[in-house]
Amino acid sequence: MLDCGGGAFNTPTSWLGGLMAVAGFRELIDILGERGLVRQIDRPVDGAWEPACLAKWIFHGLPEDERIGLIFNKVIGSRFRLATGLIGASERSYCATLGVVPEAINATWVNALLNPVAPVTVGQGPCQQVVQLGEQARLSDLPIPVWTPGKDPAPYITTLVITRHAETGEQNTGIYRTQVRDDHSVVINLNAAGQGTRNTRSYTDHGRPAPIAWVIAPDPAFLLAASAKLPYGLDEARVAGGLNGAPIEMVRARSQDLLVPASAEIVIEGEVIPGGIETEGPFGEFAGYMGHPGPRPVARITAITHRHEAIYYALTSQMPPSESTVIQGLTNAGVILKMLKYDLGETNVTDAVIDRNFGGAMGHIVIAMDPRDAAHSKRVGVLVATMTALKRVTVVNSDVDIRSPVSLDWALNARYNPASDTVILDGAAQYSHMDPSVRPVAGKPGAASKIIVDATIKHDAGPLSLPSAELMGRALDLWRELGLPPFDVPKQSRLRFGEDIGKKEVPT
Ligand SMILES: Cc1cc2nc3c(=O)[nH]c(=O)nc-3n(C[C@H](O)[C@H](O)[C@H](O)COP(=O)(O)O)c2cc1C
Repeated sequence: MLDCGGGAFNTPTSWLGGLMAVAGFRELIDILGERGLVRQIDRPVDGAWEPACLAKWIFHGLPEDERIGLIFNKVIGSRFRLATGLIGASERSYCATLGVVPEAINATWVNALLNPVAPVTVGQGPCQQVVQLGEQARLSDLPIPVWTPGKDPAPYITTLVITRHAETGEQNTGIYRTQVRDDHSVVINLNAAGQGTRNTRSYTDHGRPAPIAWVIAPDPAFLLAASAKLPYGLDEARVAGGLNGAPIEMVRARSQDLLVPASAEIVIEGEVIPGGIETEGPFGEFAGYMGHPGPRPVARITAITHRHEAIYYALTSQMPPSESTVIQGLTNAGVILKMLKYDLGETNVTDAVIDRNFGGAMGHIVIAMDPRDAAHSKRVGVLVATMTALKRVTVVNSDVDIRSPVSLDWALNARYNPASDTVILDGAAQYSHMDPSVRPVAGKPGAASKIIVDATIKHDAGPLSLPSAELMGRALDLWRELGLPPFDVPKQSRLRFGEDIGKKEVPT
């Protein structure tokens, strides 16, 4: 039970606000250690299969509450340590990173997006304690894992990637898996419609190499911001500053015209080669199947810089749930909530949650709202389905605890009539080729569709079959008096009986 000083019936919302994301990657390891959320492994491991397979068991063998991150202190053939699952093993790890309780995740994102903090450039940073340029910079020095052993053709770098626009100089950050070709070159899964592609093509379309950097273990907030689906032009470093409540410190890269986070463990600098295209993949995709190989841009590595005793941090993806689905799901719910409320004027939307068991950005979102009229919930559902890559949108009233499967299931039975409350958008998906349900056997992908389930109240079904809030509050006093086992008043009950139910004044 959370100890918030409110007596036997605590309300975790009293923790909202005032807390900042963990400042650095090493601090994060300390905090996770204190909370039992990380395990150090001293036995030497083979990066070609052991870290990936152990990470898979973390996600596929343990219940979410028991998942941990792993730090491999000895990876055969590398002098660097390897860590995975620190930030996104579970909602607990993610909350430890952001410095909040689960109920405050969305508010934290909304606040960071409304109050971004511009990065500052500093003269030097720990990420450049050791600098290897040109031929000295060898990818095989790093403990880059193979993520789907036996099926991926090579090790893959899965981390924050920074690109820059040739004319505006604006930087963009995303996470794009990158296949190692040899010691000095890679092939990048830059999504053709993505922002990284827009930036790199602003150089390569004019025959110029495009600067690019893979940043390993930056400030944790920066890694989270990189996974957020943000509008083009909003630098993720600013949002990360908003999450931290302080600017991200950046230093000039050593071989490219880029700014990179000063506190990172390792930075791999390179340039995308104009006209350089190679086959990338097959790769174990986030949706649970092997992704098809395809022609993608090649980059040459121009430098590797790192801290002394650097730790290589790698995000696991492949069959969900994974670190990728946990991070993307928890991050993008807040991003969508902010867009709806503050950019699109949908002020009646109160909350949003994305499942952590699929692609995060392509799975299931549940929206809570107070509809203004009978069709409002459907309009919002269609809006969310259209503006995001999410496949399923469920809309419920704001009196439903959207994080409780029991409450959600109740609303889906009590307030949803499939024949009249379902909208199907056919052929509306942006990334059909990534949806295995319509994956072609040969030729073009099918037209992926979307579903909107409107489980809001459409007809007055009368009062809820519960005693009054007053009696239920008195029953909590009786509960205490009888010495029955204490519990946290669930959010669903707080939504039905009022936020103060069970709250006691703290004696001074
Ligand atoms: C572990 C992980 C791997 C990812 N791999 C890719 C990828 O290979 N290509 C891609 O386009 N997006 C990938 N994503 C999603 C993007 O990072 C995310 O959508 C981000 O918002 C893209 O940034 P952009 O819109 O600035 O390009 C991945 C996300 C995670 C967490």
